[in-house]
Amino acid sequence: MIERFLSVDARNFRPSAIRAFAKLINDPNIISFAGGVPNPETFPAEAIAEIAGRVVRERRAVALQYGPTRGLPRLCDFIAQICRGRGIACGADDVLTTTGSQQALDLIAHTLLDPGDVVLVELPTYIGGTSSFFGRSARLAGVAQDDGGIVIDSLAEVAAREKPKLLYTIPNFQNPSGRLMAQGRRDAVLEIAARHDFLVIEDDPYGELLYVDDADTTPMKSRDRESRVIYSGSFSKVLSPGLRCGWIVAAGALLECFEIAKQAADLCSGMLDQSIVDEFCARGELPAQITKVRAFYRGKRATMLDALAQHFTGRAHWTPADGGLFTFMTIPGADTASRVSESVAKGVAYIPGAPFFVDGSGADTMRLTFAKESDERIREGVARLAAVWSAAA
Ligand SMILES: Cc1ncc(COP(=O)(O)O)c(C=O)c1O
Repeated sequence: MIERFLSVDARNFRPSAIRAFAKLINDPNIISFAGGVPNPETFPAEAIAEIAGRVVRERRAVALQYGPTRGLPRLCDFIAQICRGRGIACGADDVLTTTGSQQALDLIAHTLLDPGDVVLVELPTYIGGTSSFFGRSARLAGVAQDDGGIVIDSLAEVAAREKPKLLYTIPNFQNPSGRLMAQGRRDAVLEIAARHDFLVIEDDPYGELLYVDDADTTPMKSRDRESRVIYSGSFSKVLSPGLRCGWIVAAGALLECFEIAKQAADLCSGMLDQSIVDEFCARGELPAQITKVRAFYRGKRATMLDALAQHFTGRAHWTPADGGLFTFMTIPGADTASRVSESVAKGVAYIPGAPFFVDGSGADTMRLTFAKESDERIREGVARLAAVWSAAA
């Protein structure tokens, strides 16, 4: 009955296939590699509590009030500083704060996409991104990816065929694959975008979470001479995702359109969240926090890679996860979705990879996060996973 009232866009909504799995994994007996969220132990809770108390008491007219749609001016300035640190030439006026970088994706999709417009996405890609694009009735076309990121020949071929309006890419430690796109490929992506005249969304929530010394995470946006790149970032992975604080950096005219879309979406992002993040930055605590978070995950990542090497060498391959929260494993010939229940019954959870592929491929892949569990449980979980897949095809 309700169906006939739904908009065309709402008929194209897709529930997140992985949120459904996430429900499975709150049982402490299950070792979970399935979640996609930061570990709460990394949240600087005491500092946040202290700052929250202070901003509520001392700055209520800002922290508890509506604020500018662009965001708290000093926070925009800090964000611009962060982006300049990544090589992007920008100032506070080039920044729009968003309610997490998820809202950035939604505002971009709302502003740029008409039904039937084509968005190119990596194979695999982040489901929150595809949800935003499907939610605008876009058509999604997959571009191949290997361990160096987007496969340039594939991008050139798909772009020539599909005439896209947008490419959505996560070059730094991608969700779900954990891969880092090589810098040369980033240049090639920009060239192809210019040749076929499409815009690029560069989604970069994981760039600061790196665990090796030689990873070059410099964003494409730093070399974006034609203002084709819409850059988004987030405090979620380095500070706290509950403080819904992300941003967009884009060319002035585009940013104004995103700002107007945001006026309709939520007037402004939460001012209490912004005030807390702003004060955290003003105290100069962010660099030390990032160092702490990297150290926290570095050991877990090493433990997981070690355990995978011990149990899966010769029958599977996985990405090195030089940063971010995930490694992505391929078990050739397997159908990873078919053994989720058996796996949970044996006390270990993972996310089957197929939902991350818009072309229906990826059945033999799975996403594993090392963020949640202790080293001991990571080792035990990988051993259990190996038992599930010991009789793999
Ligand atoms: C690639 C990617 N983009 C965007 C987001 C959204 O993050 P947030 O809205 O918390 O900034 C996530 C969250 O997991 C992500 O993995």
